Amino acid sequence: MSVADDLRCARDLLAHAERVVVFTGAGVSAESGVPTFRGPGGLWKSFRPEQLATPQAFARDPRLVWEWYGWRREIVAECRPNLAHVALGRWMLMREGVTLVTQNVDDLHERGAEDAARGLIREGRIGGGGEPAGGVRAAAARVAPIRLHGSLFHARCTRCGGERAHRDPIDAATAETLPRCACGGLLRPAVVWFGESLPEDALQAAFHAASEAAVCLVVGTTGAVHPAAGVVHETLGAGGAVIVVDPGETAYDDVAAVRLWGAAGELVPELLAAT
Ligand code: OAD
Repeated sequence: MSVADDLRCARDLLAHAERVVVFTGAGVSAESGVPTFRGPGGLWKSFRPEQLATPQAFARDPRLVWEWYGWRREIVAECRPNLAHVALGRWMLMREGVTLVTQNVDDLHERGAEDAARGLIREGRIGGGGEPAGGVRAAAARVAPIRLHGSLFHARCTRCGGERAHRDPIDAATAETLPRCACGGLLRPAVVWFGESLPEDALQAAFHAASEAAVCLVVGTTGAVHPAAGVVHETLGAGGAVIVVDPGETAYDDVAAVRLWGAAGELVPELLAAT
């Protein structure tokens, strides 16, 4: 089958699906300039997860861990959403029944949805000719992703457990300059580290949406990290179909009803434009 045939097949599946779950990984942000984890240029090629992304690493050397997350924050803050983020945002704003589940800790899905909302407002397709109540942010919030691995831009207190948005630059020069909670406790990045549980509410919501979806659209993930990777198997187990968009091999290649080999920024807008 040609790519055009595959795209037609995938569009057909999406058009007939009452519910869809979209499951994304680092690859959806690769064209924005955010490094992936595995594969050439992946973060785990230059850094050791056990030194940076475990609770033990943070207990041992919080400055080193914060420095790394501060660096990743800076990279993401400089990046712009790419055509895949915007196309997904636009599609979700125009269509009911889609749940977005991401493993990514960047905020590019949210910003992509904001760009999409701005475009739709300009075109008069949402907001009834003016700004919708609450503005662009509120429109985009309606299609915010379920985050399985937390956010680079949230921090959680190691003493009181309180979590809040935290976008400040990180000064990891000394233990005293590290970010602190109002209660005085040391803050940590609100991301899921190796050996930690995923947020229960998010995991349940993601698995529930996946089990009810007729189609799971997988974009830019190797599917190597569990339990997140199991989202796709929830859809399969309930008799749904899987579409995979990725230029490299993934754990889902043998079970995908349609396999689109290529970059998200190119294929996702093509796939979603006509559905
Ligand atoms: P990976 O780095 O494992 O996989 C990235 C995927 O993106 C690969 O399949 C690439 O082929 C694909 N890719 C690269 N460029 C792409 C492009 N332009 N368009 C589409 N796909 C592209 O990243 P994840 O699967 O997201 O967890 O990794 C899962 C988890 O492992 C992460 O959330 C993180 C990591 O360790 C934690 O930190 C807990």
